[in-house]
Amino acid sequence: MKILHIISSPRGEASQTIQLSEAIIQKLQAKNSNAFVTVRNLTTDPLPYIAGHHIQSFNTPAENRSEEQLEAIKLSDELLAEVKNAAIIVIGAPMYNFGIPAFLKSWIDHLARAGVSFTYTADGPVA
Ligand SMILES: Cc1cc2nc3c(=O)[nH]c(=O)nc-3n(C[C@H](O)[C@H](O)[C@H](O)COP(=O)(O)O)c2cc1C
Repeated sequence: MKILHIISSPRGEASQTIQLSEAIIQKLQAKNSNAFVTVRNLTTDPLPYIAGHHIQSFNTPAENRSEEQLEAIKLSDELLAEVKNAAIIVIGAPMYNFGIPAFLKSWIDHLARAGVSFTYTADGPVA
C-alpha cells in the first residue's frame, strides 16, 4: 500500500503540520505492515508556478503537442502519476494568510487538469 506524504511547511523539525502528518502516517503503518511511504517535500523541491506554456500544453490534445509542449507537461504528468499510484495521500498544510502555502497551491495547479484529473459536466466539475 503506497502512502504519499505531501510536505508544504518549510519549517522542518519545528513544523506542526509535518509532525501531525508523520503521526498520522505512523498510525497507518501500524495498521498496514506493507505500507510504503513516498515523501514529496514541496518546500525543498519547489514546483514552478503554472505559466503560459504549461496551460497551452494542457489545452493541446496529446497527439498534437510540440516538443516544447511535451517538455512543459512532463512535470504535471509525473505528479499526476504519483498521486494515482498512492492509495492514501497525507497532506501537511499550514494556514498562511487564511489560505494554503503557495508551495501547495502550485502542486494543486499542476494536478488539476480538465479532461485528465477532472471533467466539466452539466452538474459541475467531477473528479
Ligand atoms: C506566513 C504565515 C501566515 C500565517 N497565516 C495564518 C493565518 O492566516 N491564520 C492562522 O490561523 N495561522 C496563520 N499562520 C500560523 C501557521 O498556520 C502556524 O504557525 C502553523 O503551525 C504553521 O505550520 P507549520 O508549523 O507546519 O509550519 C501563519 C504563519 C505564517 C508563517
